[in-house]
Amino acid sequence: MDTTIEMVRAREVLDSRGEPTVAVDVFLAAGAIGTALVPSGASTGTHEAVELRDGDSKRYRGRGVRKAVSSVDDTVAPELIGEDASDQSAIDSLLRELDGTENKSKLGANAILGVSLACARAAANAVGLPLYRYLGGPLARTLPVPHMNILNGGKHATDSADMQEYMIVPLGLPSFAEAVRAGSEVFHALRAELHERGMGTGVGDEGGFAPSGLKSNEQPIELIVRAIERAGYRAGEDIALALDPASTEFQKDGKYRLAREGRQCSAEDMIGLYAEWQLKYPLASVEDGLGEDDWDGWRKLTQQLGDRLQLVGDDLFVTSVDRIRKGVSEGVANAVLIKPNQIGTLSETIEAVDFAHRSGYAAVVSHRSGETEDTTIADLCVALNTGQIKTGSLSRSERVAKYNRLMEIELELGDAARYPGRDAFPRFRRG
Ligand code: PGA
Ligand code: ZN
Repeated sequence: MDTTIEMVRAREVLDSRGEPTVAVDVFLAAGAIGTALVPSGASTGTHEAVELRDGDSKRYRGRGVRKAVSSVDDTVAPELIGEDASDQSAIDSLLRELDGTENKSKLGANAILGVSLACARAAANAVGLPLYRYLGGPLARTLPVPHMNILNGGKHATDSADMQEYMIVPLGLPSFAEAVRAGSEVFHALRAELHERGMGTGVGDEGGFAPSGLKSNEQPIELIVRAIERAGYRAGEDIALALDPASTEFQKDGKYRLAREGRQCSAEDMIGLYAEWQLKYPLASVEDGLGEDDWDGWRKLTQQLGDRLQLVGDDLFVTSVDRIRKGVSEGVANAVLIKPNQIGTLSETIEAVDFAHRSGYAAVVSHRSGETEDTTIADLCVALNTGQIKTGSLSRSERVAKYNRLMEIELELGDAARYPGRDAFPRFRRG
C-alpha cells in the first residue's frame, strides 16, 4: 500500500468543554485517510509544550485555534506532501524542525500533535491494521487497568473538593470489560450515596460527580468506599483507589492551601496526609501529590511512601524525557503520566514511555480534561503495553468512548487478551 502523503488539512472543532480545538486529516496516495482530534487541559503544567490559541478577544473569547489550523495548512502541509506517513520518526523530526522552538510555541503543540497522530492513523488504515497493532506489533495484547475518576474537584468543578480527582481502580476484576462493569456499578452507587445525603449529582469536566457541600477532602474517599461496598464489591480486593490532587493548582508561596478545610499545609504535612490515607484506605496510586517544581518535597514523598504507593508525576514530568531523567536520577516518583499533547509528537510520547519503563517506572496513558471523541489513547496504551490508563468517569461520551474502544480491542484479541489487574500495581499492599 502506498503511504505517500497527498494532502494534509486542519479544521477547528469543539472539545468536551465546548472550546475550540484542532482536528487534522491526512490523505494518502492510495486513498487511506487518517484523522486526529487534539485534547486540551485545564490544570496544565508550566513545563508543557505550548497550546497555540488565537488570543483575540471576540472570536471564541480568544480561545480560537485558527493560528494552529494555519500552522498545519500553510506551513506543515506543503512540506509533508510526498513524504511517507509510515516513517513516523522522520515525520515527527520534520515537524520539530519546522517549529524550531524548545516548547513547540511557533506552530503550536496542538497543530503538531494533530499532524503526528493523523499520519499514524492514515498509515495504519493504509496497511489495514488497527492502530494498537500498527504501533505495537503482533505481541500487543495487554489491556490497561483503568483509573476511573468518579468524583471531580479542583479546576474540573466549581465548588467541590480542593483535590482534583478521586478515582477507582478495578484491579481485582478478571477482564477489562468486567472492570468497566464494576466501575459503572460503583459510579451509580455513588450517585445514590450522594442523593441520599441531599448532595448534588451533576458531573464535572471528566464526568465524575462534583458535589458542593463537602466537609473535607477526605469525605469523597469515605463516600467512594461506601459506594464500592454498596455495589457489592470489596474495597481493596476488587477495587482500589487512586488520587490526583493536582496539587500545583493549590500550591502558593510554598504552601499547599486546602481552602475547603481552611488550612495551609507544608510538603511534610501533605506527605503525612497521604501516609494516613494509605493506612486507612486501599490507596494504590497518588498523582501530583506535590507541586510541579517541589523537587525536595517529592524526594521526601518518594522516600517515605514510594515502597507502598505508586507515585505518578504529571505536571512534574509533562511527558518529557528530560524531566523524567531528572526524576529518575534524584529518586523522585516511580511512575509517569503520559499525555501526548504535553510533549507534542507521537515519537516523543513513545520515547517517554520507553524511558520510563527502562528506568523501572510505570507509565499511565492519560486523557485531558478537555477531550473529544478521538480514541487514540486507548490504542496507544495497548500498543505500548503500559497496563494502566486514566480516562475519566463512567459518563460523558468523550470519556466512555475510550472504554468502549478498549472493550472492542479486548473482544478482537479474544483469548490472547490479557488484563494485568494487580500485576500492574506491584507496590499495592492492601486487600
Ligand atoms: P488536565 O487534568 O487535563 O486539566 O490537565 C488532568 C490531570 O491533571 O491529570
Ligand atoms: Zn494530573
